[in-house]
Amino acid sequence: MAEVRLRKVVKRFDDVEAVRGIDLDIADHEFVVLVGPSGCGKSTTLRMVAGLEDISDGEVLIGGDVVNDVPPKDRDIAMVFQNYALYPHMTVFQNMSFGLRLKHYPKAEIKKRVDEAARILDIAELLDRKPKQLSGGQRQRVAMGRAIVRNPKVFLFDEPLSNLDAKLRVAMRTEIKKVHQQVRTTTIYVTHDQVEAMTLADRVVVMNNGRIEQIGTPNQLYHTPETRFVAGFIGSPAMNFIPCQLEERAGALSIRLTDSLAFPVPEAKASRYRGRAANGSMLLGLRPEHITEAHGHLEPGAVPFEARLEVTEPMGMETLVYFGVNGAQVCGRVNPNSGAREGAALRLAANLNNMHLIDEATGRVI
Ligand SMILES: Nc1ncnc2c1ncn2[C@@H]1O[C@H](COP(=O)(O)OP(=O)(O)OP(=O)(O)O)[C@@H](O)[C@H]1O
Ligand SMILES: [Mg+2]
Repeated sequence: MAEVRLRKVVKRFDDVEAVRGIDLDIADHEFVVLVGPSGCGKSTTLRMVAGLEDISDGEVLIGGDVVNDVPPKDRDIAMVFQNYALYPHMTVFQNMSFGLRLKHYPKAEIKKRVDEAARILDIAELLDRKPKQLSGGQRQRVAMGRAIVRNPKVFLFDEPLSNLDAKLRVAMRTEIKKVHQQVRTTTIYVTHDQVEAMTLADRVVVMNNGRIEQIGTPNQLYHTPETRFVAGFIGSPAMNFIPCQLEERAGALSIRLTDSLAFPVPEAKASRYRGRAANGSMLLGLRPEHITEAHGHLEPGAVPFEARLEVTEPMGMETLVYFGVNGAQVCGRVNPNSGAREGAALRLAANLNNMHLIDEATGRVI
């Protein structure tokens, strides 16, 4: 096992700069997820670590050694792709042991490693089957088993679950997490699904347009996003962004949304924003879970207001409500018993303790 370092890594395809100078330190045993929209450079970054793509500029280090010029087969990494590319004519055992047999490992050692991986993945009963006799999830396990038996320094996953249906994805996600708890191999995992990223990662790397926007634990990214992009990318339904102005009157700060609607800034947040009033256009960032029905007594920082609901979406355990504020569509999450009805007004409360203020010009969270 090993740590992985990327130093100012750049990838150019002719005149396209797909990866624009990435610095990333991944610790031994760590599970890091690269997440971001399609085309942001996730796969290209992973493929440079794997050695499947030349590095245009910068350095990749595995276990302290620069590997820029080391061919993929000598990097001691194992990669699991979206299409698992199992050999159809081989049994599960033969598929899993293929790499070890190529390297002339002793038979007993091969059997020991395959049995151990099959135990971890719960596929011991399937070792004599051919891939076409397996379900999608079972094939995915075999692909992971093939990686595990090699006992590599690093696992690389590129969207390994995207061929599975929604239910199986969730189950396999848990499976991958359990496997990592047991084998503890340093892992870089690529997905465009922020839920997958949040649930799997020790640390999440949010990429956008060939650059890293922010690196942090799932909770850090959720609670303290540094940019509008990260704030909007992490969390579902996504954070609301409402055009606003920061007002300061007699030392008291408030967020002005419309002529008739302003939210006082809670004391705990005030020092952060003081002196920023009249600094140009801003956006109030508030997650749907921080807009709920107003209870009898409100916590400090929760501000009641009334909204005319345009759309309601019952989800069972909660109801999503949509309404307009200052030209923005805003989503809140209320109790199914709150009496929310389309076309009717509802008393809601915004929890300003969880507010974010974004400078529209720079896209940065203040
Ligand atoms: N072989 C190539 N030649 C030219 N351009 C490429 C090549 N491979 C990737 N690109 C470009 O590099 C950029 C990053 O691609 P990459 O595959 O890394 O994105 P990604 O983040 O993995 O996206 P997705 O979520 O769709 O898989 C894209 O603009 C893509 O068109
Ligand atoms: Mg990709």
